[in-house]
Amino acid sequence: MINLSRTIEPEWLDELPPDDPRAMRSRRDLDRINALMMNAGLVARELRRAFPGPAPRSIAEIGAGDGRFLLGIARKLTPRWGELDVVLLDQQKLVSHETRRDFITLGWRAQPVTEDVFAWLAQSDGPAFDVIIANLFLHHFDNAKLAELLSLIARRTRTLIACEPQRSVRALLFSRMLGVIGCNDVTRHDAVVSVRAGFKDEELSGLWTAGDGWTLQERTYGLFSHYFVATRDNSDSHSDTGAR
Ligand SMILES: C[S@@+](CC[C@H](N)C(=O)[O-])C[C@H]1O[C@@H](n2cnc3c(N)ncnc32)[C@H](O)[C@@H]1O
Repeated sequence: MINLSRTIEPEWLDELPPDDPRAMRSRRDLDRINALMMNAGLVARELRRAFPGPAPRSIAEIGAGDGRFLLGIARKLTPRWGELDVVLLDQQKLVSHETRRDFITLGWRAQPVTEDVFAWLAQSDGPAFDVIIANLFLHHFDNAKLAELLSLIARRTRTLIACEPQRSVRALLFSRMLGVIGCNDVTRHDAVVSVRAGFKDEELSGLWTAGDGWTLQERTYGLFSHYFVATRDNSDSHSDTGAR
């Protein structure tokens, strides 16, 4: 019998220096895993749903890694979504000049920020964003830290879109088979840890304490993903982004 209670363990990729060859290779593996999970398509779909009219003016991705996940989404949304400001927040400095240039080519002004997510979100004078995105990120934190993180996020945006590992037997079995598609030891380790720290049912909704006025949606997606969308009601203006 497989134990599927939620457990958090350190991920190797978070601890290796950005220029370590095993870390660099693992970030490439992540591109393929994101493709298999179909996460960019999901986030693009949820962005279109959240903004059926005018496009948002600002997006932040927390735990953005090298920024190429959001770049893939930008490619799906442009040219209909024109110029906008993007913050790529990560504790490590990972965004290359090439990635920044690719964003600029699409008309998205991308600013990498290297900081811990809690410190960054807690800044009382920090900017607000039309959308905050988290992909394969929230699962890093235990429930107490997650509740704190979600409440900080709710103060800085009207829309959160998060795409995380599904904590299921199927995802766990798949995570143990990543060697078959050539993923390295770092990716193979972190994938199993991530699934065990992933989510099911309405676990993230249960940690949302921002109060009334929010619509929450939480479901499994595809074979391996679990998503959570929180939208603040009456979000009639994009420039009034919900900072309180
Ligand atoms: C699994 S990677 C996902 C990267 C990207 N979202 C993607 O899908 O390719 C998780 C990222 O979270 C970052 N991270 C972990 N803990 C963090 C923290 N406390 N503050 C900011 N970034 C953090 C790591 O450096 C890593 O780049």
